[in-house]
Amino acid sequence: MEYDVIMIGSGPGGYTGAIRCAQLGLKTAIIEKYPALGGTCLNVGCIPSKALLDSSEHFYNASHTFAEHGIKLADLQVDLAQMIKRKQEVVDATTKGINFLMKKNKIDEIHGVGSFVDPHTIKIVKADGSEQTITGKNIIIATGSKPSSFPSMPIDKKRVITSTEALKLTEVPKHLIVIGAGVIGAELGSVYARLGAKVSFVEFADSMIPTMDKTMGKELQKAIKKLGADFYFSHKVTKVENTGNEVVVSADSPKGEQITLTGDYCLVSVGRRPYTDGLNLEAAGVKVDNRGRVEVDNHLRTNVPHIYALGDVIRGAMLAHKAEEEGTFIAETIVGQKPHVHYRLIPGVVYTWPEVAAVGYTEEEVKQEGIPYKVGSFPFKALGRARASMDIDGLVKVLAHKETDEILGVHMIGARAADMIAEAVVAMEFRASAEDVSRMSHAHPTYTEAFKEACLDATDKRAINI
Ligand code: FAD
Ligand code: NAI
Repeated sequence: MEYDVIMIGSGPGGYTGAIRCAQLGLKTAIIEKYPALGGTCLNVGCIPSKALLDSSEHFYNASHTFAEHGIKLADLQVDLAQMIKRKQEVVDATTKGINFLMKKNKIDEIHGVGSFVDPHTIKIVKADGSEQTITGKNIIIATGSKPSSFPSMPIDKKRVITSTEALKLTEVPKHLIVIGAGVIGAELGSVYARLGAKVSFVEFADSMIPTMDKTMGKELQKAIKKLGADFYFSHKVTKVENTGNEVVVSADSPKGEQITLTGDYCLVSVGRRPYTDGLNLEAAGVKVDNRGRVEVDNHLRTNVPHIYALGDVIRGAMLAHKAEEEGTFIAETIVGQKPHVHYRLIPGVVYTWPEVAAVGYTEEEVKQEGIPYKVGSFPFKALGRARASMDIDGLVKVLAHKETDEILGVHMIGARAADMIAEAVVAMEFRASAEDVSRMSHAHPTYTEAFKEACLDATDKRAINI
Protein backbone atom coordinates (compact mmCIF):
# COMPACT_ATOMS: atom_id res chain seq x y z
CA MET A 1 0.00 0.00 0.00
CA GLU A 2 1.23 3.52 -0.77
CA TYR A 3 -0.35 5.18 2.24
CA ASP A 4 -1.08 4.21 5.81
CA VAL A 5 -4.05 6.58 5.77
CA ILE A 6 -6.10 8.24 3.03
CA MET A 7 -8.35 11.04 4.28
CA ILE A 8 -11.22 11.94 1.94
CA GLY A 9 -12.29 15.51 2.72
CA SER A 10 -10.32 18.39 4.22
CA GLY A 11 -12.86 19.98 6.60
CA PRO A 12 -12.06 20.43 10.29
CA GLY A 13 -12.45 16.69 10.86
CA GLY A 14 -10.37 15.73 7.83
CA TYR A 15 -7.44 18.11 8.24
CA THR A 16 -7.23 17.66 12.02
CA GLY A 17 -7.31 13.88 11.66
CA ALA A 18 -4.69 13.98 8.89
CA ILE A 19 -2.34 16.07 11.02
CA ARG A 20 -2.75 13.73 14.01
CA CYS A 21 -2.08 10.73 11.73
CA ALA A 22 1.11 12.39 10.46
CA GLN A 23 2.18 13.27 14.02
CA LEU A 24 1.84 9.58 14.88
CA GLY A 25 4.17 8.62 12.02
CA LEU A 26 1.54 7.44 9.54
CA LYS A 27 2.12 8.19 5.85
CA THR A 28 -0.96 10.23 5.01
CA ALA A 29 -2.72 11.67 1.96
CA ILE A 30 -5.64 14.10 2.02
CA ILE A 31 -8.06 14.42 -0.90
CA GLU A 32 -10.16 17.53 -1.42
CA LYS A 33 -12.45 18.15 -4.35
CA TYR A 34 -12.26 21.97 -4.14
CA PRO A 35 -9.09 24.03 -4.73
CA ALA A 36 -9.18 25.38 -1.14
CA LEU A 37 -8.74 23.17 1.90
CA GLY A 38 -10.82 23.59 5.04
CA GLY A 39 -14.23 22.23 4.03
CA THR A 40 -17.56 23.80 4.88
CA CYS A 41 -16.33 25.31 8.12
CA LEU A 42 -13.48 27.40 6.75
CA ASN A 43 -14.92 28.23 3.34
CA VAL A 44 -18.69 28.60 3.69
CA GLY A 45 -19.46 27.95 7.36
CA CYS A 46 -17.97 28.84 10.73
CA ILE A 47 -15.31 31.33 9.65
CA PRO A 48 -17.10 33.44 7.00
CA SER A 49 -20.31 33.54 9.05
CA LYS A 50 -18.40 34.78 12.09
CA ALA A 51 -16.62 37.39 9.97
CA LEU A 52 -19.99 38.78 8.82
CA LEU A 53 -21.46 38.50 12.30
CA ASP A 54 -18.59 40.60 13.64
CA SER A 55 -18.81 43.21 10.86
CA SER A 56 -22.59 43.56 11.15
CA GLU A 57 -22.33 43.81 14.92
CA HIS A 58 -19.87 46.70 14.59
CA PHE A 59 -22.34 48.48 12.30
CA TYR A 60 -25.25 47.81 14.62
CA ASN A 61 -23.37 49.08 17.65
CA ALA A 62 -22.11 52.12 15.77
CA SER A 63 -25.67 53.02 14.79
CA HIS A 64 -27.47 52.02 18.00
CA THR A 65 -25.24 52.12 21.07
CA PHE A 66 -22.25 54.35 20.34
CA ALA A 67 -24.23 57.56 20.97
CA GLU A 68 -25.08 56.37 24.47
CA HIS A 69 -21.39 55.67 25.06
CA GLY A 70 -20.76 59.29 24.10
CA ILE A 71 -19.43 58.59 20.62
CA LYS A 72 -21.04 60.54 17.83
CA LEU A 73 -20.79 59.37 14.24
CA ALA A 74 -22.19 60.97 11.13
CA ASP A 75 -23.15 59.48 7.76
CA LEU A 76 -22.89 55.88 8.81
CA GLN A 77 -23.23 53.55 5.81
CA VAL A 78 -22.98 49.87 5.07
CA ASP A 79 -20.46 48.98 2.38
CA LEU A 80 -21.59 45.40 1.82
CA ALA A 81 -19.08 44.76 -0.97
CA GLN A 82 -16.23 45.66 1.42
CA MET A 83 -17.76 43.54 4.19
CA ILE A 84 -17.91 40.52 1.87
CA LYS A 85 -14.38 41.24 0.59
CA ARG A 86 -12.99 41.33 4.12
CA LYS A 87 -14.84 38.10 4.92
CA GLN A 88 -13.21 36.45 1.89
CA GLU A 89 -9.77 37.69 2.94
CA VAL A 90 -10.29 36.10 6.35
CA VAL A 91 -11.34 32.84 4.66
CA ASP A 92 -8.38 32.88 2.25
CA ALA A 93 -5.85 33.53 5.01
CA THR A 94 -7.35 30.72 7.07
CA THR A 95 -7.43 28.13 4.29
CA LYS A 96 -3.86 29.01 3.25
CA GLY A 97 -2.91 28.26 6.84
CA ILE A 98 -4.18 24.70 6.30
CA ASN A 99 -1.98 24.33 3.16
CA PHE A 100 0.95 25.33 5.35
CA LEU A 101 0.00 22.76 8.00
CA MET A 102 -0.26 20.00 5.38
CA LYS A 103 3.25 20.79 4.10
CA LYS A 104 4.66 21.12 7.61
CA ASN A 105 3.34 17.65 8.47
CA LYS A 106 4.41 16.13 5.12
CA ILE A 107 0.86 15.18 4.19
CA ASP A 108 0.28 14.65 0.45
CA GLU A 109 -2.47 17.02 -0.69
CA ILE A 110 -4.42 15.83 -3.74
CA HIS A 111 -7.19 17.92 -5.27
CA GLY A 112 -10.04 16.20 -7.07
CA VAL A 113 -13.14 14.11 -6.40
CA GLY A 114 -12.26 10.92 -4.57
CA SER A 115 -14.22 7.71 -5.02
CA PHE A 116 -13.79 4.08 -4.02
CA VAL A 117 -12.58 1.61 -6.65
CA ASP A 118 -12.37 -1.18 -4.07
CA PRO A 119 -12.00 -1.23 -0.26
CA HIS A 120 -8.33 -0.13 -0.41
CA THR A 121 -8.21 1.90 -3.63
CA ILE A 122 -9.30 5.48 -4.24
CA LYS A 123 -9.56 7.11 -7.65
CA ILE A 124 -9.21 10.88 -7.80
CA VAL A 125 -10.71 12.74 -10.76
CA LYS A 126 -9.03 16.15 -11.03
CA ALA A 127 -10.45 19.43 -12.33
CA ASP A 128 -8.62 18.99 -15.67
CA GLY A 129 -10.21 15.54 -16.11
CA SER A 130 -7.03 13.59 -15.38
CA GLU A 131 -7.18 10.68 -12.95
CA GLN A 132 -4.92 9.32 -10.22
CA THR A 133 -5.32 6.13 -8.21
CA ILE A 134 -3.87 5.59 -4.75
CA THR A 135 -4.13 2.83 -2.20
CA GLY A 136 -4.31 2.97 1.58
CA LYS A 137 -4.20 0.56 4.52
CA ASN A 138 -6.78 2.75 6.25
CA ILE A 139 -9.30 5.13 4.69
CA ILE A 140 -11.22 7.85 6.52
CA ILE A 141 -14.43 9.28 5.07
CA ALA A 142 -14.65 12.94 6.08
CA THR A 143 -16.88 14.27 3.32
CA GLY A 144 -19.12 16.43 5.52
CA SER A 145 -22.56 17.72 4.67
CA LYS A 146 -24.57 19.94 2.32
CA PRO A 147 -27.64 22.12 2.97
CA SER A 148 -30.89 20.19 2.87
CA SER A 149 -34.18 21.36 1.49
CA PHE A 150 -37.70 20.14 0.75
CA PRO A 151 -39.49 19.87 -2.61
CA SER A 152 -41.79 22.74 -1.50
CA MET A 153 -38.78 25.10 -1.26
CA PRO A 154 -36.62 24.61 -4.37
CA ILE A 155 -33.26 26.37 -4.03
CA ASP A 156 -32.38 28.50 -7.08
CA LYS A 157 -29.33 30.13 -5.42
CA LYS A 158 -30.54 33.56 -6.60
CA ARG A 159 -33.61 34.50 -4.56
CA VAL A 160 -34.17 31.21 -2.75
CA ILE A 161 -30.79 30.66 -1.18
CA THR A 162 -28.80 28.57 1.29
CA SER A 163 -26.22 29.78 3.79
CA THR A 164 -23.55 29.57 1.07
CA GLU A 165 -25.21 32.28 -1.05
CA ALA A 166 -26.21 34.29 2.05
CA LEU A 167 -22.50 34.71 2.77
CA LYS A 168 -21.92 36.57 -0.50
CA LEU A 169 -25.01 38.65 -1.27
CA THR A 170 -24.44 41.78 -3.32
CA GLU A 171 -27.16 43.81 -1.62
CA VAL A 172 -28.76 43.98 1.81
CA PRO A 173 -32.20 42.37 1.40
CA LYS A 174 -35.20 44.59 2.02
CA HIS A 175 -37.13 41.65 3.37
CA LEU A 176 -35.34 38.38 4.10
CA ILE A 177 -37.63 35.45 4.81
CA VAL A 178 -35.78 32.80 6.80
CA ILE A 179 -37.22 29.29 6.76
CA GLY A 180 -35.93 27.51 9.87
CA ALA A 181 -35.01 29.47 13.01
CA GLY A 182 -32.21 27.07 13.99
CA VAL A 183 -28.54 27.95 14.24
CA ILE A 184 -27.96 29.15 10.67
CA GLY A 185 -31.25 31.04 10.57
CA ALA A 186 -30.49 32.80 13.86
CA GLU A 187 -26.92 33.72 12.88
CA LEU A 188 -27.41 34.83 9.28
CA GLY A 189 -30.84 36.33 10.05
CA SER A 190 -29.05 38.45 12.69
CA VAL A 191 -26.41 39.58 10.19
CA TYR A 192 -28.94 41.02 7.76
CA ALA A 193 -31.33 42.33 10.43
CA ARG A 194 -28.42 44.33 11.88
CA LEU A 195 -27.62 45.70 8.44
CA GLY A 196 -31.18 46.98 8.05
CA ALA A 197 -33.15 44.13 6.46
CA LYS A 198 -36.61 43.24 7.66
CA VAL A 199 -36.30 39.59 8.69
CA SER A 200 -39.20 37.15 9.07
CA PHE A 201 -38.61 33.69 10.53
CA VAL A 202 -40.94 30.86 9.52
CA GLU A 203 -40.27 27.93 11.81
CA PHE A 204 -41.86 24.50 12.05
CA ALA A 205 -41.20 24.17 15.81
CA ASP A 206 -42.68 26.43 18.50
CA SER A 207 -39.48 28.39 19.27
CA MET A 208 -36.11 29.47 17.95
CA ILE A 209 -33.16 27.01 18.29
CA PRO A 210 -35.66 24.32 19.37
CA THR A 211 -33.12 21.61 20.13
CA MET A 212 -31.43 23.71 22.82
CA ASP A 213 -32.80 24.29 26.34
CA LYS A 214 -36.18 26.02 25.93
CA THR A 215 -35.14 28.98 28.10
CA MET A 216 -32.42 29.83 25.56
CA GLY A 217 -34.85 29.93 22.63
CA LYS A 218 -37.20 32.27 24.50
CA GLU A 219 -34.41 34.64 25.50
CA LEU A 220 -32.86 34.62 22.05
CA GLN A 221 -36.21 35.45 20.48
CA LYS A 222 -36.49 38.54 22.74
CA ALA A 223 -33.04 39.69 21.61
CA ILE A 224 -33.67 39.10 17.91
CA LYS A 225 -37.08 40.76 18.15
CA LYS A 226 -35.24 43.94 19.21
CA LEU A 227 -33.67 43.89 15.73
CA GLY A 228 -37.20 44.21 14.31
CA ALA A 229 -37.68 40.57 13.28
CA ASP A 230 -41.05 38.79 12.97
CA PHE A 231 -41.66 35.18 13.94
CA TYR A 232 -44.08 32.63 12.56
CA PHE A 233 -43.68 29.61 14.82
CA SER A 234 -45.44 26.24 14.38
CA HIS A 235 -45.87 27.13 10.70
CA LYS A 236 -45.51 24.58 7.93
CA VAL A 237 -44.13 25.98 4.69
CA THR A 238 -46.19 24.74 1.76
CA LYS A 239 -44.71 26.66 -1.16
CA VAL A 240 -41.76 28.91 -2.01
CA GLU A 241 -41.87 30.64 -5.36
CA ASN A 242 -39.36 32.91 -7.10
CA THR A 243 -41.49 35.35 -9.09
CA GLY A 244 -38.56 37.24 -10.63
CA ASN A 245 -37.66 40.09 -8.32
CA GLU A 246 -39.51 38.64 -5.37
CA VAL A 247 -40.01 35.44 -3.42
CA VAL A 248 -43.43 34.41 -2.17
CA VAL A 249 -43.53 32.01 0.78
CA SER A 250 -46.80 30.31 1.72
CA ALA A 251 -47.22 28.49 5.02
CA ASP A 252 -49.97 26.95 7.13
CA SER A 253 -50.45 28.42 10.58
CA PRO A 254 -51.17 26.16 13.59
CA LYS A 255 -54.87 27.03 13.19
CA GLY A 256 -54.78 25.79 9.61
CA GLU A 257 -54.94 29.27 8.07
CA GLN A 258 -52.65 30.05 5.15
CA ILE A 259 -50.22 32.96 5.43
CA THR A 260 -48.29 34.49 2.56
CA LEU A 261 -45.06 36.45 2.94
CA THR A 262 -43.39 38.36 0.13
CA GLY A 263 -39.71 39.20 0.31
CA ASP A 264 -36.76 39.75 -1.98
CA TYR A 265 -34.70 36.81 -0.62
CA CYS A 266 -35.60 33.57 1.13
CA LEU A 267 -32.92 31.77 3.16
CA VAL A 268 -33.64 28.07 3.50
CA SER A 269 -31.95 26.88 6.70
CA VAL A 270 -33.78 23.69 7.62
CA GLY A 271 -30.76 21.53 8.44
CA ARG A 272 -27.95 19.82 6.54
CA ARG A 273 -27.64 16.35 5.05
CA PRO A 274 -24.64 14.01 5.10
CA TYR A 275 -22.71 14.18 1.84
CA THR A 276 -21.60 10.93 0.21
CA ASP A 277 -22.50 11.74 -3.42
CA GLY A 278 -19.97 10.40 -5.90
CA LEU A 279 -17.99 8.43 -3.30
CA ASN A 280 -19.08 5.09 -4.77
CA LEU A 281 -19.38 3.57 -1.30
CA GLU A 282 -20.84 0.41 -2.89
CA ALA A 283 -17.42 -0.48 -4.35
CA ALA A 284 -16.07 -0.69 -0.81
CA GLY A 285 -19.23 -2.23 0.65
CA VAL A 286 -19.63 0.62 3.17
CA LYS A 287 -23.16 0.90 4.61
CA VAL A 288 -25.18 4.06 5.18
CA ASP A 289 -28.19 4.33 7.50
CA ASN A 290 -31.74 5.35 6.58
CA ARG A 291 -30.79 9.05 6.84
CA GLY A 292 -27.86 8.68 4.46
CA ARG A 293 -25.22 8.86 7.21
CA VAL A 294 -22.23 6.55 7.02
CA GLU A 295 -22.82 3.94 9.73
CA VAL A 296 -20.06 3.70 12.34
CA ASP A 297 -19.53 1.82 15.60
CA ASN A 298 -18.21 3.29 18.86
CA HIS A 299 -14.69 3.27 17.41
CA LEU A 300 -15.91 5.26 14.36
CA ARG A 301 -15.30 2.18 12.19
CA THR A 302 -17.68 1.48 9.35
CA ASN A 303 -18.82 -2.07 8.63
CA VAL A 304 -15.52 -2.43 6.68
CA PRO A 305 -12.95 -2.52 9.53
CA HIS A 306 -10.15 -0.46 7.92
CA ILE A 307 -12.57 2.26 6.74
CA TYR A 308 -13.54 4.91 9.28
CA ALA A 309 -15.82 7.97 9.08
CA LEU A 310 -16.21 11.19 11.06
CA GLY A 311 -17.87 14.57 11.36
CA ASP A 312 -21.04 15.70 9.60
CA VAL A 313 -21.22 12.56 7.45
CA ILE A 314 -21.91 10.37 10.52
CA ARG A 315 -24.35 10.53 13.45
CA GLY A 316 -24.23 13.26 16.10
CA ALA A 317 -23.97 17.03 16.23
CA MET A 318 -22.89 18.73 13.00
CA LEU A 319 -20.18 20.83 14.62
CA ALA A 320 -16.61 21.57 13.63
CA HIS A 321 -15.12 20.81 17.04
CA LYS A 322 -17.01 17.48 17.19
CA ALA A 323 -15.49 16.54 13.81
CA GLU A 324 -12.03 17.59 15.06
CA GLU A 325 -12.27 15.40 18.16
CA GLU A 326 -13.28 12.50 15.95
CA GLY A 327 -10.34 13.07 13.58
CA THR A 328 -7.92 12.82 16.47
CA PHE A 329 -9.83 9.84 17.87
CA ILE A 330 -9.52 7.84 14.64
CA ALA A 331 -5.81 8.61 14.18
CA GLU A 332 -5.06 7.44 17.72
CA THR A 333 -7.27 4.36 17.30
CA ILE A 334 -5.37 3.37 14.14
CA VAL A 335 -2.06 3.28 16.02
CA GLY A 336 -3.56 1.23 18.82
CA GLN A 337 -4.16 3.94 21.43
CA LYS A 338 -7.39 4.05 23.47
CA PRO A 339 -8.79 7.55 22.92
CA HIS A 340 -12.16 8.79 24.12
CA VAL A 341 -14.68 11.41 22.98
CA HIS A 342 -17.13 12.58 25.63
CA TYR A 343 -20.06 13.40 23.34
CA ARG A 344 -22.30 14.73 26.14
CA LEU A 345 -19.69 17.43 26.78
CA ILE A 346 -19.36 18.78 23.24
CA PRO A 347 -20.49 22.40 23.66
CA GLY A 348 -22.90 24.08 21.27
CA VAL A 349 -22.72 27.80 20.49
CA VAL A 350 -24.90 30.22 18.54
CA TYR A 351 -22.93 33.34 17.60
CA THR A 352 -25.77 35.84 17.76
CA TRP A 353 -25.54 38.78 20.14
CA PRO A 354 -26.09 37.98 22.86
CA GLU A 355 -24.37 34.66 22.23
CA VAL A 356 -25.97 31.38 23.25
CA ALA A 357 -23.80 28.55 24.56
CA ALA A 358 -24.58 25.25 26.17
CA VAL A 359 -23.07 22.01 27.36
CA GLY A 360 -24.58 18.88 28.89
CA TYR A 361 -28.21 18.06 29.54
CA THR A 362 -31.05 20.46 28.78
CA GLU A 363 -33.84 20.79 31.35
CA GLU A 364 -36.15 18.98 28.93
CA GLU A 365 -33.69 16.05 28.78
CA VAL A 366 -33.22 15.67 32.55
CA LYS A 367 -37.00 15.71 32.96
CA GLN A 368 -37.43 13.13 30.24
CA GLU A 369 -34.76 10.85 31.73
CA GLY A 370 -36.21 11.23 35.23
CA ILE A 371 -32.94 12.55 36.68
CA PRO A 372 -33.57 14.45 39.96
CA TYR A 373 -32.30 17.99 39.42
CA LYS A 374 -32.24 21.53 40.69
CA VAL A 375 -31.82 24.79 38.80
CA GLY A 376 -29.77 27.86 39.52
CA SER A 377 -29.81 30.95 37.38
CA PHE A 378 -28.41 34.45 37.29
CA PRO A 379 -29.29 37.34 34.98
CA PHE A 380 -26.65 39.39 33.18
CA LYS A 381 -28.37 42.62 34.19
CA ALA A 382 -27.21 42.07 37.77
CA LEU A 383 -23.54 42.04 36.70
CA GLY A 384 -21.47 45.21 37.05
CA ARG A 385 -19.43 44.21 33.98
CA ALA A 386 -22.57 43.81 31.85
CA ARG A 387 -23.90 47.22 32.91
CA ALA A 388 -20.54 48.81 32.07
CA SER A 389 -20.65 47.43 28.53
CA MET A 390 -24.45 47.78 28.15
CA ASP A 391 -24.75 44.03 27.52
CA ILE A 392 -27.45 43.39 30.08
CA ASP A 393 -29.53 40.85 28.11
CA GLY A 394 -29.34 37.21 29.05
CA LEU A 395 -28.75 34.78 31.87
CA VAL A 396 -26.79 31.73 32.94
CA LYS A 397 -28.76 28.62 33.90
CA VAL A 398 -27.13 25.72 35.72
CA LEU A 399 -28.73 22.31 36.15
CA ALA A 400 -27.26 20.22 38.97
CA HIS A 401 -28.12 16.80 40.34
CA LYS A 402 -30.55 17.23 43.22
CA GLU A 403 -28.73 14.83 45.54
CA THR A 404 -25.06 14.93 44.49
CA ASP A 405 -24.95 18.57 43.29
CA GLU A 406 -22.92 17.44 40.21
CA ILE A 407 -23.36 19.88 37.34
CA LEU A 408 -25.48 18.23 34.62
CA GLY A 409 -25.92 21.07 32.17
CA VAL A 410 -25.01 24.73 31.70
CA HIS A 411 -26.96 27.05 29.39
CA MET A 412 -25.91 30.62 28.83
CA ILE A 413 -27.19 33.49 26.79
CA GLY A 414 -25.24 36.68 27.11
CA ALA A 415 -22.15 38.62 26.14
CA ARG A 416 -19.20 36.33 25.37
CA ALA A 417 -21.09 33.17 26.34
CA ALA A 418 -19.27 31.43 23.46
CA ASP A 419 -15.97 31.79 25.31
CA MET A 420 -17.42 31.43 28.80
CA ILE A 421 -18.85 27.97 28.11
CA ALA A 422 -15.30 26.54 28.15
CA GLU A 423 -15.24 26.94 31.93
CA ALA A 424 -18.40 24.86 32.21
CA VAL A 425 -16.91 22.17 29.94
CA VAL A 426 -13.79 21.94 32.11
CA ALA A 427 -15.85 21.85 35.30
CA MET A 428 -18.06 19.09 33.93
CA GLU A 429 -15.13 17.05 32.54
CA PHE A 430 -13.80 17.01 36.11
CA ARG A 431 -17.31 16.22 37.39
CA ALA A 432 -17.49 19.37 39.50
CA SER A 433 -20.46 20.08 41.71
CA ALA A 434 -22.22 23.44 41.55
CA GLU A 435 -20.75 24.19 44.97
CA ASP A 436 -17.20 23.46 43.68
CA VAL A 437 -17.57 26.20 41.06
CA SER A 438 -19.27 28.56 43.47
CA ARG A 439 -16.24 28.37 45.77
CA MET A 440 -13.74 29.27 43.01
CA SER A 441 -12.65 32.88 42.71
CA HIS A 442 -13.91 34.56 39.52
CA ALA A 443 -12.29 37.87 38.58
CA HIS A 444 -14.41 40.96 39.19
CA PRO A 445 -15.86 42.54 37.17
CA THR A 446 -16.25 39.86 34.49
CA TYR A 447 -19.15 38.14 32.75
CA THR A 448 -17.90 34.84 34.23
CA GLU A 449 -19.26 35.93 37.60
CA ALA A 450 -22.71 35.07 36.21
CA PHE A 451 -21.65 31.39 36.08
CA LYS A 452 -20.37 31.46 39.66
CA GLU A 453 -23.56 33.20 40.85
CA ALA A 454 -25.77 30.69 38.97
CA CYS A 455 -23.82 27.89 40.68
CA LEU A 456 -24.34 29.59 44.06
CA ASP A 457 -28.05 29.78 43.22
CA ALA A 458 -28.11 26.09 42.27
CA THR A 459 -26.18 25.01 45.38
CA ASP A 460 -28.49 26.43 47.98
CA LYS A 461 -30.09 29.61 46.60
CA ARG A 462 -26.98 31.47 47.79
CA ALA A 463 -26.51 33.94 44.92
CA ILE A 464 -25.06 37.15 46.34
CA ASN A 465 -25.77 39.92 43.89
CA ILE A 466 -29.49 39.50 43.36
P1 FAD B 1 -16.81 19.53 5.95
O1 FAD B 1 -16.29 20.73 6.65
O2 FAD B 1 -18.14 19.59 5.35
O3 FAD B 1 -15.72 19.07 4.91
C1 FAD B 1 -15.92 18.04 4.02
C2 FAD B 1 -14.99 18.23 2.85
O4 FAD B 1 -15.01 17.06 2.06
C3 FAD B 1 -15.41 19.37 1.92
O5 FAD B 1 -14.33 20.24 1.72
C4 FAD B 1 -15.80 18.67 0.61
O6 FAD B 1 -15.51 19.43 -0.53
C5 FAD B 1 -14.94 17.43 0.69
N1 FAD B 1 -15.45 16.31 -0.11
C6 FAD B 1 -16.70 15.81 -0.12
N2 FAD B 1 -16.79 14.75 -0.95
C7 FAD B 1 -15.55 14.60 -1.49
C8 FAD B 1 -14.99 13.67 -2.41
N3 FAD B 1 -15.72 12.68 -2.93
N4 FAD B 1 -13.69 13.81 -2.74
C9 FAD B 1 -12.94 14.80 -2.21
N5 FAD B 1 -13.41 15.69 -1.32
C10 FAD B 1 -14.69 15.58 -0.97
N6 FAD B 1 -19.76 24.48 13.29
C11 FAD B 1 -19.21 24.94 14.43
O7 FAD B 1 -18.73 24.14 15.24
N7 FAD B 1 -19.15 26.28 14.70
C12 FAD B 1 -19.67 27.20 13.87
O8 FAD B 1 -19.59 28.39 14.15
C13 FAD B 1 -20.28 26.75 12.68
N8 FAD B 1 -20.79 27.64 11.81
C14 FAD B 1 -21.35 27.19 10.65
C15 FAD B 1 -21.92 28.12 9.79
C16 FAD B 1 -22.50 27.71 8.62
C17 FAD B 1 -23.11 28.73 7.68
C18 FAD B 1 -22.49 26.33 8.27
C19 FAD B 1 -23.08 25.86 6.98
C20 FAD B 1 -21.95 25.39 9.13
C21 FAD B 1 -21.38 25.82 10.33
N9 FAD B 1 -20.84 24.92 11.24
C22 FAD B 1 -20.29 25.37 12.42
C23 FAD B 1 -20.83 23.47 10.98
C24 FAD B 1 -19.45 23.04 10.49
O9 FAD B 1 -19.11 23.77 9.32
C25 FAD B 1 -19.42 21.55 10.20
O10 FAD B 1 -19.89 20.84 11.32
C26 FAD B 1 -18.03 21.08 9.86
O11 FAD B 1 -17.53 21.78 8.74
C27 FAD B 1 -18.01 19.59 9.58
O12 FAD B 1 -16.71 19.20 9.31
P2 FAD B 1 -16.38 17.91 8.43
O13 FAD B 1 -14.90 17.79 8.47
O14 FAD B 1 -17.20 16.77 8.88
O15 FAD B 1 -16.89 18.23 6.95
P1 NAI C 1 -30.76 23.40 12.50
O1 NAI C 1 -31.06 21.98 12.70
O2 NAI C 1 -30.01 24.14 13.54
O3 NAI C 1 -32.12 24.22 12.32
C1 NAI C 1 -33.07 23.89 11.36
C2 NAI C 1 -34.38 24.50 11.79
O4 NAI C 1 -35.29 24.37 10.73
C3 NAI C 1 -35.00 23.80 13.00
O5 NAI C 1 -35.36 24.77 13.95
C4 NAI C 1 -36.20 23.08 12.42
O6 NAI C 1 -37.27 22.97 13.35
C5 NAI C 1 -36.55 23.97 11.25
N1 NAI C 1 -37.25 23.31 10.16
C6 NAI C 1 -37.02 22.08 9.64
N2 NAI C 1 -37.87 21.84 8.62
C7 NAI C 1 -38.64 22.95 8.49
C8 NAI C 1 -39.70 23.32 7.63
N3 NAI C 1 -40.13 22.50 6.68
N4 NAI C 1 -40.26 24.52 7.78
C9 NAI C 1 -39.83 25.38 8.74
N5 NAI C 1 -38.84 25.08 9.59
C10 NAI C 1 -38.25 23.89 9.47
O7 NAI C 1 -30.07 23.48 11.06
P2 NAI C 1 -29.36 24.69 10.32
O8 NAI C 1 -29.63 25.97 11.02
O9 NAI C 1 -29.72 24.54 8.90
O10 NAI C 1 -27.85 24.33 10.52
C11 NAI C 1 -27.32 23.09 10.02
C12 NAI C 1 -26.23 22.59 10.89
O11 NAI C 1 -25.09 23.43 10.82
C13 NAI C 1 -26.65 22.51 12.33
O12 NAI C 1 -26.70 21.16 12.70
C14 NAI C 1 -25.60 23.21 13.10
O13 NAI C 1 -25.06 22.38 14.08
C15 NAI C 1 -24.53 23.58 12.11
N6 NAI C 1 -24.21 24.98 12.34
C16 NAI C 1 -23.57 25.30 13.50
C17 NAI C 1 -23.32 26.60 13.82
C18 NAI C 1 -22.66 26.91 15.10
O14 NAI C 1 -22.12 26.01 15.72
N7 NAI C 1 -22.66 28.15 15.55
C19 NAI C 1 -23.68 27.70 12.94
C20 NAI C 1 -24.39 27.26 11.75
C21 NAI C 1 -24.61 25.94 11.48
